[in-house]
Amino acid sequence: MNILRFQDLIQQGRVRGRRVFIRADLNVPQDDAGRITEDTRIRASLPCIRMALDAGAAVMVTSHLGRPTEGQFKPEDSLAPVALRLGELLGPPYQRGVPLRANWVDGVQVAPGELVLLENCRLNKGEKKNDEALARKLAALCDIFVNDAFGTAHRAEATTYGIAQFAPLACAGPLLAAEIDAIGKALSNPRRPLLAIVAGSKVSTKLTILQSLAAKVDGLIVGGGIANTFMLAAGLPIGKSLAEPALVDQARTVMQAMKARGAEVPIPHDVVVATEFAGGAKAIVKSPREVAADEMILDIGPATASALAAKLGAAGTIVWNGPVGVFEFDAFAKGTETIARAIAASSAFSIAGGGDTLAAIAKYGIEKEIGYISTGGGAFLEVLEGKTLPAFEILQRRADG
Ligand code: 3PG
Repeated sequence: MNILRFQDLIQQGRVRGRRVFIRADLNVPQDDAGRITEDTRIRASLPCIRMALDAGAAVMVTSHLGRPTEGQFKPEDSLAPVALRLGELLGPPYQRGVPLRANWVDGVQVAPGELVLLENCRLNKGEKKNDEALARKLAALCDIFVNDAFGTAHRAEATTYGIAQFAPLACAGPLLAAEIDAIGKALSNPRRPLLAIVAGSKVSTKLTILQSLAAKVDGLIVGGGIANTFMLAAGLPIGKSLAEPALVDQARTVMQAMKARGAEVPIPHDVVVATEFAGGAKAIVKSPREVAADEMILDIGPATASALAAKLGAAGTIVWNGPVGVFEFDAFAKGTETIARAIAASSAFSIAGGGDTLAAIAKYGIEKEIGYISTGGGAFLEVLEGKTLPAFEILQRRADG
């Protein structure tokens, strides 16, 4: 993908003394007291901020946090906890928190070598709708716009799209660039066989992904409620398992499309069932042909898990989105654990994304063994759907120029 990269501008000496506006995705989960419960996105944003400071730029960083009402400041929408955490991670002179500026649209005072955090950009009227007047004001704040917010790359908003249209220079930060590179490596020119794991509760939310991947991958491993719908399509009984019978035809079309290409959607040959959805429920391993009317499938069985693990071991590239069972309950976590460990042990290039997938990766402590962990939720899913994300499209257009 032809886009301007921030690293290149730094190497060309075009950043020193310049006003650099970084759009990061610092949208992190918080508890009821506002404390940050998981800071991966803040950590992932550090390299870009450090690069800009080291290069001698006057650095402004902003992000959205949640989905506030524009023009109505409420304390819980403030980036204040992020400013503190970011400062702690950056260290001196910011160890007590990065200075946080409110009402910043009409001007920001920041000197070269300094960093300020600009309050939640979704408080600005016109942000969500990518209002042109707002975008032009944002662009006027900087000499260089750096988009480093992959998690928000599927949104065309004033800080992710409009500013990139009007800023003197618009480029991708290191996180956005790394995401583009990893996704390109996995999907554009993958080492084969390319296996995708798409799991989750509903086919309906991932149907476009399944259809798009069916045209690309050598194996499509489905899990969770999605697998149940595929089992139904294969004529198997699924008892009272979560499934979408209305989408059986679409599931069948995906299977046929795969088959026509000599690829496959492996259907589990054993499953773990229970009569209730609870951590303490009695887990029974059985053939899918024997699932009773009052049972629900909560995991893949051990024989299926080890067969899939062998396929993952022989893969060239793996794309992973979604746990294959109810891994939050230990009795139904073994399928997901086996898959996770097989991906970790495989020599394949692997890319993983999505909230539940990241939780599974953290649970089994395999972060270092995954080739690339995406910071995107919705953005990662849209890439898997084969869409060009607005943030990339505009940076490409600017680079082509
Ligand atoms: C996310 O959490 O997926 C991103 O930060 C995007 O947030 P949004 O769905 O509110 O745009």
